[in-house]
Amino acid sequence: MSGRVAGKTIVVTGAGSGIGAAIARGLAAEGANVVLADLNDAAADAVAASIAEAGGASLAVRVDVTDRRTVREAVARTVDRFGRVDVWFNNAGMNAPMPFLDITEENFERIMRVNAVGVLVGIQEAARQFIAQRGGGKVINTASIAGRTGFPSFAPYSASKAAVISLTQAAARDLAPHGITVNGFAPGVVATPLWTQLDADLAAMGAADAGFDSMTSDILLGRAAQPEDIVPTAVFLAASDSDYITGQIIPIEGGMILV
Ligand SMILES: NC(=O)c1ccc[n+]([C@@H]2O[C@H](COP(=O)([O-])OP(=O)(O)OC[C@H]3O[C@@H](n4cnc5c(N)ncnc54)[C@H](O)[C@@H]3O)[C@@H](O)[C@H]2O)c1
Repeated sequence: MSGRVAGKTIVVTGAGSGIGAAIARGLAAEGANVVLADLNDAAADAVAASIAEAGGASLAVRVDVTDRRTVREAVARTVDRFGRVDVWFNNAGMNAPMPFLDITEENFERIMRVNAVGVLVGIQEAARQFIAQRGGGKVINTASIAGRTGFPSFAPYSASKAAVISLTQAAARDLAPHGITVNGFAPGVVATPLWTQLDADLAAMGAADAGFDSMTSDILLGRAAQPEDIVPTAVFLAASDSDYITGQIIPIEGGMILV
């Protein structure tokens, strides 16, 4: 198959839904072998099946990014099936908003565990495989505008995404001697299933001003992103076009916070 990532084997966590599913489909359309790694194995299976129907190569694996053992298994199953790993997307993430003064340690730790520790584990396990393959490899992390500016209705989420940005920079510095690049992108507001629960939770908190409609009203380009708006940047970061870029976060937010 031809395409900008033809023949590359690419793992995408959180690929069963939203941004991850769109990225997985977009990479497959550009010729990649795509591994869909998600806690929700039925959702990952469905996306894998749609890729296969479109003529792409795909594999669904159940992964909990907070459980290193399952991440290692995903690496092993990918290598079994496709021979190697070329690119690894740490995209799985979640949110659970609380008013700032009510945030509990449990809430903070749960969000940090998935969004930040999960990214650390993903970078480490991908990099170990890249190093064992002797050179090259790309890691791409899903950050957020919430990692660039703190939102009071979901402060732990903002902190976790700031951690993703810091981990991207630290890993880029550590892994450059192995020829591995580490980058990320920071979406603004993307119309995905994540917002269904988030909007309901924010409304129940009396924080509708942090909800989808309110956040979207200030975007310079006049609309929220669709998951497909993320795909060209994801393909660019996975392709050789981005070989001289590392440690960077690309904002994809339609003109929102502008930092
Ligand atoms: N939607 C937005 O507006 C937006 C904006 C900025 C950043 N993001 C980030 O983009 C990424 C994808 O979000 P989305 O909007 O597509 O959400 P989504 O809820 O549609 O999809 C998230 C996927 O991650 C999976 N997942 C959750 N926890 C997991 C775990 N522990 N292990 C493995 N898989 C797990 C879920 O099963 C789901 O399939 C997240 O990191 C999110 O924080 C989203």
